[in-house]
Amino acid sequence: MSAQILDGKALAAEIRSEVKTQVAALAEKGVSTALAVILVGDDSASQVYVRNKIKACADTGIRSLEFRMPAETTQQQLLAKIAELNADESVDGILVQLPLPKQINADAVIAAIDPAKDVDGFHVANAGALITGKQGFVPCTPFGVMRLIEKSGVNPRGKSAVIVGRSNIVGKPMALLLLAADATVTVAHSRTPDLSAVTRNADILVAAVGRAKLIKADMVKPGAVVIDVGMNRDENGKLCGDVDFAEVKEIAGSITPVPGGVGPMTIAMLMQNTVLAAQMRRGISLS
Ligand code: GUN
Repeated sequence: MSAQILDGKALAAEIRSEVKTQVAALAEKGVSTALAVILVGDDSASQVYVRNKIKACADTGIRSLEFRMPAETTQQQLLAKIAELNADESVDGILVQLPLPKQINADAVIAAIDPAKDVDGFHVANAGALITGKQGFVPCTPFGVMRLIEKSGVNPRGKSAVIVGRSNIVGKPMALLLLAADATVTVAHSRTPDLSAVTRNADILVAAVGRAKLIKADMVKPGAVVIDVGMNRDENGKLCGDVDFAEVKEIAGSITPVPGGVGPMTIAMLMQNTVLAAQMRRGISLS
């Protein structure tokens, strides 16, 4: 039997529609919700991501401010822009698209963003909040994955969850969120000797390594929830995930496609974080 396909595009549209309602409710109170997006340089993938983020703002009624800075921008110039946006009361969220050109230290840039406006959830203050179970911004991709898992109907409590990949943006926060949801969590990575033995044990498998079709059917437990965070090109230049979808959908219980799975959810959760930032900064109760 073929797996349930977890439609990230449809779920993202639902979330954007909820956000739109929240943004309108804030507007009723005289609050305009605003997201500032900074793109440094001309990385082509980043341009697409930024365009999609700006478009999602327009869809949800969030005011977007877009700052495009040249590839030769200095760290000091970028820090000055962030300081200006930190001080700007009308700005709720600040997002600096990564990667940054090599003359700029991304850690220093992220550290400069006011944690209360860090809608990407990358600041150490927000990472620390996630570790200790405090209120803070959760990175958008793992936040979106949790919503997809919820949609699968499988409660992580007491389940074995395996994450393949240990990045600060996806793997590590993903592990913390699944742990907070009472799963027994394993993080596998490029140095894990027998990856199949680990992944075959997963009731919930999250692939976030950036290797095209790495996860094959014989690496998946029958009935597992399989979430594919990968965004790669296959041998024919076609977009594909870290999971061999055609094979794995025959064995998994639920699976996300690429495209149309995690990708749209990331942007929807960014919108959700931005409206959350607007509510929290103004002391308006969370809805
Ligand atoms: N580059 C790739 N993913 C992301 C993301 O989620 N946020 C930002 N700011 N840059 C990225």
